[in-house]
Amino acid sequence: MTPRLEVVQGDITSLQVDAIINAANETLLGGGGVDGAIHRAAGAELLAFCRALDGCRTGEAKITPGFRLPARHVIHTVGPVWCGGGNGEAEQLASCYRQSFRLAREHDLASLAFPAISCGVFGYPSAAAAKIAVSESRQALSANPGLERVLLVAFDAAMADTFSQALGVSR
Ligand code: APR
Repeated sequence: MTPRLEVVQGDITSLQVDAIINAANETLLGGGGVDGAIHRAAGAELLAFCRALDGCRTGEAKITPGFRLPARHVIHTVGPVWCGGGNGEAEQLASCYRQSFRLAREHDLASLAFPAISCGVFGYPSAAAAKIAVSESRQALSANPGLERVLLVAFDAAMADTFSQALGVSR
């Protein structure tokens, strides 16, 4: 029986799922990191589509087609910049997951893949972020029977170990 929540290590742009989540910025006009990789793989149509979305606030999410990606959709969410933890960062990060799961439910998506939102340029401590990712994913999976698979995608081994520890499984 394939577990409904799994950690994988690799490039999120290669995954053939209903939606991959993009760790974007409030302009939605691309950037570095996973945002840059997704825009490069999706092609110029993604940027053109995003231009019409009028940005996205931190903690919120917007959905687009996947264009040239193997994933059918991209859910763009904007994580918090880590400012020491006293600025509501945890709640904002949890909101990124909740809003992404809300859009997945509205669009009847069954498989999702999340990068480690805010754990790169935005500096969120990985272990704390991984706990939020696992907790919100478990809640979404129990609340939404139509959600069949959630992948937590680590770009490197360290993040894969951190996700696995949060999930309580040994790699
Ligand atoms: N596949 C999966 N994960 C990736 C990939 C990829 N191709 N590329 C990077 N990552 C990982 C990083 O290693 C990190 O663990 O995604 C995680 C999030 O890092 P960032 O992409 O830097 O995102 P974030 O910390 O949320 O910062 C967002 O960076 O790229 C800009 O426009 C973006 O301004 C926004 C900011």
